[in-house]
Order: sequence, then C-alpha cells, then structure tokens
Amino acid sequence: MGRVSDSPFTDLDRPPLRAAALTRGLVGPGGLWRAIEVFDETGSTNADLAAAARAEGTPEGTVLIAESQTAGRGRLDRAWVSPPRAGLTFSFLMRPAVSPPRRVWLPLLTGLAVAEAVQAACERTAAGRAVETGVKWPNDVMVAERKLAGVLAEAVPGTDAVVVGVGLNVTTRPEELPDDRATSLSMEDAGCTDRDPLLRAILRQIERRYLRWTAAAGDPERSGVRRAYLDRCVTVGRPVRVELPGGETVVGRAEDIDVDGRLVVEGRPISAGDVVHVR
Ligand code: BTN
Repeated sequence: MGRVSDSPFTDLDRPPLRAAALTRGLVGPGGLWRAIEVFDETGSTNADLAAAARAEGTPEGTVLIAESQTAGRGRLDRAWVSPPRAGLTFSFLMRPAVSPPRRVWLPLLTGLAVAEAVQAACERTAAGRAVETGVKWPNDVMVAERKLAGVLAEAVPGTDAVVVGVGLNVTTRPEELPDDRATSLSMEDAGCTDRDPLLRAILRQIERRYLRWTAAAGDPERSGVRRAYLDRCVTVGRPVRVELPGGETVVGRAEDIDVDGRLVVEGRPISAGDVVHVR
C-alpha cells in the first residue's frame, strides 16, 4: 500500500489532470491539437518537447503537461517554480508557416489567449467582481498589477519548430509564490480554480487565435491579434523602466506595440527586456 503522501488526492484542492479526458475534449479532426500527454514529474516541459522535436520530428499541436517540474524555466534565464498540481505548467509545439520576423507574435498571441480564456472561464468572484486579466509586454498575464501567468517561447535550432511553454498559478498560496508581485487564481478569489476546464478553455483560445494568425500568414493586423493585444495591454500608456539584455536601462512612457511586436518607449522600439511598470 502506498503511503498517504503518495496519493494524488492528498491535497483535495489539487486533484490530478487526466490525459484521456483532455484528449477526448480537445483532439479531433480539423483541430490544431494532435496529442496531449500528462507527466507526474519532469525537469521542464519546454526542454522535453524541444528534445522530442529534434529527435523525432514531433508534429505541430503536441501538448506536454507536467504536474510538477524540477527545473521549470522562465524568461531571461529565470526559474519557474510551482508546487505539484498547484498550477498549469504545459508546453506545446508549433511549426508556424510564417516568416521568421512575424513569429515574434507567437508568444504575444499565447499570452493574449491565456488572458482571454482565463477571464472568460473565471467569471466572477464570490463578491461578484469580475477577474480582469491584462497582458504586460511581452507576454505576462496580469491581474490587478500582479503576475498570474508567464509564457516562454523557444525556437528549436535546426528545425522549423517553436516550443511555447505556459505557467499559470491556480491554487498557489502566497507563501508558495516567489514574491508578492505574483498572484494565483485562488488568491484572486476566482470563480473557477478547476484546472481541467481552465486548460481546455486556454487551449481552445490558443487554437482559435493561432489558426486565424497563420491563415493571415502571421500578419498581426489582418489576424486581429495586434488590436486585441493592444486592447488588453496594461503596459502601453504607462511610465516604464525597461532593463535591456545588454544592461542598459530605458525609462519613459510606453507608447505602442509596433507591427514587429516591439514595445515602443519614447519613440524607441525595444524587442527584448524586463519591464517594470513605474507608479
Ligand atoms: C516567465 O514568465 O518567465 C515564463 C514562465 C514559463 C513557465 C512555463 S511552465 C511550463 C513550461 N516549461 C518550462 O520549463 N517553462 C514553461
């Protein structure tokens, strides 16, 4: 008999995900999603999927979900840490038939789709308040100035594949988060903290946005993705401080997201950096 602590039901707030049920709901003819796998534990779903893409030519639309990651990766060489089954940690593989400059929209589109799906799925808090999500450039999903989810996109060298990973805090408690700039759905008193319907809603919204975007050959205007992103962006219009990868800091008002997905600060387009919203 296994020890009680081995049971996936030890924490009743954190039931396990079922690959078979997700597959039945999401994988089918004409859709984007081809295969859905759930692992109890792995290092990083992004790393696993990139390795599979290199070795086996894994098809577009493959999704890997981990109940727990021991080496979860974040943007800018940071770690992504989440207790087992407290959040959604998953990656999907895409092979977008889109020119390389337009591929920068894939992680932005993903952050947007996560924000849209979570807001729709969460409906209202017990107090009747809507859970309003925003996107902080480039692809953090925010609720009330705190980070709820992050996206990490990595091109797989030598292939046409891009692995996109999403980490979303669902029932994570304050002491389990890296700092007080992060939040979770339960901390926001969201109407839904059930990971199965949340994941279905998120994958369906990513599918919708992605198919429209690729049908428009990755054009951010024709696909409607730039307009929708700007409407939900909580960075544009704000004073910001941006730390660039080379160590330089840019301070000023965030004015726009241009067609190349760059943040424009005081007329200067920025393609990568760590943004702080200055109060
Ligand atoms: C960030 O905001 O810094 C991006 C976080 C991305 C985390 C996810 S969790 C699933 C996938 N696997 C990883 O190792 N990272 C991404």
